[in-house]
Amino acid sequence: AMSELRFDNQTVVVTGAGGGLGKAYALFFASRGANVVVNDLGGSHHGEGKSSKAADVVVEEIRAAGGKAVANYSSVEDGPAIIDTAIKNFGRIDVLINNAGILRDISFKNMKDEDWDLINRVHTYGAYKCAQAAWPHFRKQKYGRVINTASAAGLFGNFGQANYSAAKLGQVGFTETLAKEGAKYNIIANVIAPIAASRMTATIMPPDVLENLKPDWVVPVVARLVHSSNTTETGGIYELGGGAVAKLRWQRAKGALLKTDDSLTPGAIARKWADVNDFSVCEYPTGPADFMGLLEQGLKMQSAPKGEEPDFKGRVALVT
Ligand code: NAI
Repeated sequence: AMSELRFDNQTVVVTGAGGGLGKAYALFFASRGANVVVNDLGGSHHGEGKSSKAADVVVEEIRAAGGKAVANYSSVEDGPAIIDTAIKNFGRIDVLINNAGILRDISFKNMKDEDWDLINRVHTYGAYKCAQAAWPHFRKQKYGRVINTASAAGLFGNFGQANYSAAKLGQVGFTETLAKEGAKYNIIANVIAPIAASRMTATIMPPDVLENLKPDWVVPVVARLVHSSNTTETGGIYELGGGAVAKLRWQRAKGALLKTDDSLTPGAIARKWADVNDFSVCEYPTGPADFMGLLEQGLKMQSAPKGEEPDFKGRVALVT
């Protein structure tokens, strides 16, 4: 179709593309004309072992369908090797999908350093190494698209996933900064919290639920975000799966202002607690500067005579 979003002459790197969501991305981008680097370490979903088979099978499938793909078997911790595979084989990189991941679920009480470190090496350090290796290419060509992969566990927390939650919410902050630093160079970065049937979710969700969560149904949102036609949506957080997709954002409550003298006591804070939690007057901050409005109001308050509390009605740039 004429309206089809295509990726001809572009190179897409998908990490962890040997199965699950990564495989679905790889097959899709190849079918839309992209050169695809199919990266996968090929280990277990707990991060043990490795094998070239996972990536090879997907590359073969793409080639059999007439697409262009090469395999890379490095761990994402070795990001430069993965990006090199793109440059050596296709001469460029346009899109990076940081998707590789593992789980080391265990109650926080029993969590070992190894559980914490391995999760952070793959998710946090791995996404960093891949993006940093791609970055000079993106800057030079003034074009780049990045997807990082968070999780509902990171956004909201989840039993047995303190390590994974920390790493996954880390992807949000990481993405926000890449979006800000990349803007000048037409580098767009977004982060997704997907839900899909894969070996990762096979043991924790019933089959009838998994049937309605095909990885293929996550792909179109990602494709839309990394397509060249998306020049404005950056730094976005999207929850998606099973055909549903919604953007998330931060919400800051009305807040309280207190005079910074000896009246600033825990008791004074307690008396203002309703304002601290009052979301009926709120704003949707997208940068650190958004807190400055409240601080400016605070400065005005500081110059008021002692014992007097000016009425704090709300915020600069109120949203009601
Ligand atoms: P999956 O286990 O099917 O796929 C992950 C792939 O990454 C595997 O093929 C694995 O071999 C590969 N991989 C693992 N460690 C690697 C490393 N160090 N270097 C290179 N490749 C490595 O899992 P799934 O479900 O497709 O997950 C994809 C991403 O989505 C992960 O980041 C996961 O945390 C995230 N996610 C998935 C959810 C779901 O419902 N499936 C929910 C929330 C997040």
